[in-house]
Amino acid sequence: MTRKSKLTDLYIWAVALTGLLVLFTNIPDFQNPRKTLDMVVLAFLVALGEMASVPFVRGRGTVSVSTPVIYTAGVLYGPAAGIWISSLATLRKKDLQLKVPLPIVLFNRGMLAICMELFAMTYRLMGGQFGGLSFPEGVVPFLVAASVYTLANAVLTSVAVSLQLQISLASVWKSNVIWLLPNLFALFPLGALMVLVAQQAGPLVLLLFYMPLLVTKYSLEKYIELRDVYNEMAAALSTAIDARDSYTHGHSERVAEYAALLAKELKLPDEQVEMIRYVALLHDVGKVGIRDSILKKQGSFTYDEYEEMKKHAEIGADILKVMKSLAKGQDWVRYHHERWDGTGFPKKLRGEEIPLGARIIACADSFDAMTTDRPYKEKMSFEEAKKELLRCSGSQFDPKVVEAMIRVIDKHILRK
Ligand SMILES: [Fe+2]
Ligand SMILES: [Fe+2]
Repeated sequence: MTRKSKLTDLYIWAVALTGLLVLFTNIPDFQNPRKTLDMVVLAFLVALGEMASVPFVRGRGTVSVSTPVIYTAGVLYGPAAGIWISSLATLRKKDLQLKVPLPIVLFNRGMLAICMELFAMTYRLMGGQFGGLSFPEGVVPFLVAASVYTLANAVLTSVAVSLQLQISLASVWKSNVIWLLPNLFALFPLGALMVLVAQQAGPLVLLLFYMPLLVTKYSLEKYIELRDVYNEMAAALSTAIDARDSYTHGHSERVAEYAALLAKELKLPDEQVEMIRYVALLHDVGKVGIRDSILKKQGSFTYDEYEEMKKHAEIGADILKVMKSLAKGQDWVRYHHERWDGTGFPKKLRGEEIPLGARIIACADSFDAMTTDRPYKEKMSFEEAKKELLRCSGSQFDPKVVEAMIRVIDKHILRK
């Protein structure tokens, strides 16, 4: 066992055991049958909310209305009720079926108990009253407590992810948390409203808040379905291109993977990384317009044949032009055979005149060509390809892109 994984285990168990301690030192009061029934209703609503949670389109995570219901339980029925409901009513089916490793299940339970304990402490410290949310005085303590709950949740989870995947906390925070926080903070006023409604009309009324969420869930699922169809179509199209030439089998998929890794390494925004992945998948789509006799030719090209082969970049760009969602990337396809020193085709662009997307795809494309067998040459090893990329840095390729590609090869490709 490495030091890192020992540290991860230590952390997971420390959070799990602290949380269990919090849980068992805060036993809810079950004396009053009416209150007990209300707590059961809230626990049921939280469980239902977890089932109806809506996945985020980007990255991991889901949004559900169960967190505001947990706050409702804490404020109206006291910290212990909140802690138990936060920790236990959020158990998912896969946790119960033990499809998730037990330490992780316990970590999550413990973490949620700790978060709710922090919520209750903050709420009390800010002057909030349990048993009912006073309006408007109670709203600020409530909002601050909800922020503490959310941040504690984000921090405890990010540390676990960072330790487990051995990536820096800053990068976990940047890729998984920062963009998520506004979504979660937007739920706080809704949370305050839910507490106020529940204290007037009883917890079951909170079910009404689930309706818009269910509608959102339905439309989001349709959107994801559609996006999957789109992905499959793009993948099918790229396979069709590669299938025309048995030597390039899987070429487009690999170029898409390398280009996306490269774009990420160059710290481009997530949307651009996705766009580069799609466009790279289709970078050779223009080969549909090239005759088989040229495409499948084993020997070297005549001048005319080479001129015709070159046309695939322009044809591909024209195909992308008519695809509304990919039109922005048409120039990346058009210029994926340009060279940094201005000796490429079709326009002999040089340096930064070549769009960055095209420079990225060019590097990914050549790296795959180097490391797979072709009729005219045997494949290079990854180490040899690294040397070749460095040799052509500043002539064929953008030096900054090559530097990033070397890091991508070391971090992702050699490790496979
Ligand atoms: Fe090409
Ligand atoms: Fe290619």
